[in-house]
Amino acid sequence: MDREDIVSVQGLNHWFGTGEVRKQALYDVSLALKRGSLTVMMGPSGSGKTTVLTLIGCLRSVQEGSVRLLGQELMGATEAQLILLRRRLGFIFQAHNLHESLTAVQNVVMGVQVHPGIADDTAETAAAHALGLVGLSDRIGYLPANLSGGQKQRVAVARALVSTPALVLADEPTAALDKDSAAEVVDLLKRMGKTRGTTTLLVTHDNRILDRADRILSLEDGRIVKIEERA
Ligand SMILES: Nc1ncnc2c1ncn2[C@@H]1O[C@H](COP(=O)(O)OP(=O)(O)O)[C@@H](O)[C@H]1O
Ligand SMILES: [Mg+2]
Repeated sequence: MDREDIVSVQGLNHWFGTGEVRKQALYDVSLALKRGSLTVMMGPSGSGKTTVLTLIGCLRSVQEGSVRLLGQELMGATEAQLILLRRRLGFIFQAHNLHESLTAVQNVVMGVQVHPGIADDTAETAAAHALGLVGLSDRIGYLPANLSGGQKQRVAVARALVSTPALVLADEPTAALDKDSAAEVVDLLKRMGKTRGTTTLLVTHDNRILDRADRILSLEDGRIVKIEERA
């Protein structure tokens, strides 16, 4: 494993189900993510993209192969170890998953509170700052119902970034966004890579995003079939 690598996956296999319905979802997947890089993962529906993301994100247990995340092996890791690692990650999903009864800034504070020991006013300051990063300084007191789709997704991005995660895992975060909002979200993640060294692994079908990636991984039927390096 390269010292610069935030994630290193080797020979990863994964199955769903048991007995007769047991089905292999990943075959011998290997990849590495360099610190500060933006990697896009593409592939048809059912090709295994979300499975890769959730394995790297400590959201399911590694069955076979090696996943090293932030210097720690996930294969055989305890639930307690996985919980600690998960706190160092930022997640962004297709559905923004905002709490409808909380304002923008309160939603972003939810991303801070998984970190014990941060005072409430510090959390709110950090949340307001994160909303500034996504261009929503003037919307911090708004409820999700009063925000556009693009603005809601940017709140979700702010929530993922507020704890300054080492790695951001994003599963089709721009699917519901118009062209400009999608570009904004990805440009922001790219900027975080440059300024904070944040590493991003982003799943998308969205061709608009590809020219912004440092690298494009293509999955088909649970296998990596192509790795394309960009300038
Ligand atoms: N929880 C699950 N139970 C059973 N099969 C699953 C589950 N999650 C995913 N799969 C199967 O694993 C394969 C890969 O799924 P997934 O990683 O969600 O693909 P993608 O994100 O590329 O659409 C698919 O065949 C899917 O049906
Ligand atoms: Mg998926």
